Amino acid sequence: MSDGAAVTWAELLAETSAALGDPREARWICEQAGGFSAAELAASRDQAVRTAMAAAVHAMVRRRCAGEPLQYVLGSWPFRRLDLLVDRRVLIPRPETEVVAGTAIDLVRAAGPGATAVDLGTGSGAIGLSIARELHPVPVRTVLTDASPAALDVARANLAGLGRAGQGVELHEGSWWSALPDGLRGAVDVAVSNPPYVAEGDPEVDESVRTWEPLGALYSGADGLDAVREIVAGAEAWLAPRGWLVLEIGWTQGPAVAELLDAGGFVDVAIRPDLAGRDRVALGRRAGAATAR
Ligand SMILES: C[S@@+](CC[C@H](N)C(=O)[O-])C[C@H]1O[C@@H](n2cnc3c(N)ncnc32)[C@H](O)[C@@H]1O
Repeated sequence: MSDGAAVTWAELLAETSAALGDPREARWICEQAGGFSAAELAASRDQAVRTAMAAAVHAMVRRRCAGEPLQYVLGSWPFRRLDLLVDRRVLIPRPETEVVAGTAIDLVRAAGPGATAVDLGTGSGAIGLSIARELHPVPVRTVLTDASPAALDVARANLAGLGRAGQGVELHEGSWWSALPDGLRGAVDVAVSNPPYVAEGDPEVDESVRTWEPLGALYSGADGLDAVREIVAGAEAWLAPRGWLVLEIGWTQGPAVAELLDAGGFVDVAIRPDLAGRDRVALGRRAGAATAR
C-alpha cells in the first residue's frame, strides 16, 4: 500500500479493499480512521487523506490481515441501539445476545418504574446498558457485574457514553451474585446473564474466537454449564419473589438448562429461540407471591 502522502480517499479505499479482499470492511475502516459517517466518506472521495489518517488505516489493515477480528480493529461495534467500545478485554457482542437483551428489557418494562435489574458478567456492558438505554426515562436501577476488572473498565467507558440514560447504572466487581450489594438480597426483579457456556475443549469454537477473545468469557467446565449451575443455585437468595432469571445458553443446552431451572424451584420456565430459530434464551421466575415495592 502507498504511504498515504498524496492519496485521495477514493484511492486509499481501493487499496484497502484490495488488501482485505472485502470492500465493506475497507469502507468501515476508512470511516473509522477518518471519523466519517458513510455519507461523509462518500462526499470526501476526491479529497487528499491526511498523513495521520492514512497511517491509522494502514495500522488497522495490518491488524486485520494478522487475523484480529474486525470489531476489535475498529474498536467499536453496534449492539441494539448502542455503539459499544470493544477491545480484547471483552467478548465481542453477538447478534443472538440482542434477543436475550430484548427478553430482559421486556421483563424490566413489565416490572415497572423503580424496578431493579442486574446483568451478571456484563463484559462490554451490552445487555445491562441496553436495559438502561431502552428503559430511559423510566427510573430503573441497573447493576452490572463482572469478575474481570479489565472488562468492567470497558463497561465503564461505555456507560460514560450513555449520558442521562446511564444515571441509574452501577458497576460491581466479583463472581456472579456475590458481586451485588447486600441490600439487593431478595430484591432483584430481573437478573440477566450471558455467562460463559462453552464446554472445555469444544472443537467447534472458531480459531479466531479462541485466539482473540477472552477465554474467561467462553469456557465453563466439562459440559459448559458450570456458570449456569452457579447462577441458578444463587438466584433464590437474590431474586425478588416472582423475579425473573434470563440466561443466554448454547443452542444444544435448552433441555439441560430447563431441567436445572425446574430443579431449582423456578416456575414459568421457558426456552426461546434466537433469530436463527435455535434454542438461545432460558428463563424462569422465582416462585412466591409478589411483594409491593
Ligand atoms: C460470554 S461473556 C458475556 C459478555 C456480555 N454480557 C455480552 O453478552 O456480550 C461472559 C462474561 O462473564 C464474565 N465472567 C466469567 N466468569 C465470571 C464470574 N465468575 N462472575 C462474574 N462474571 C464472570 C466474563 O468476564 C465475561 O465478561
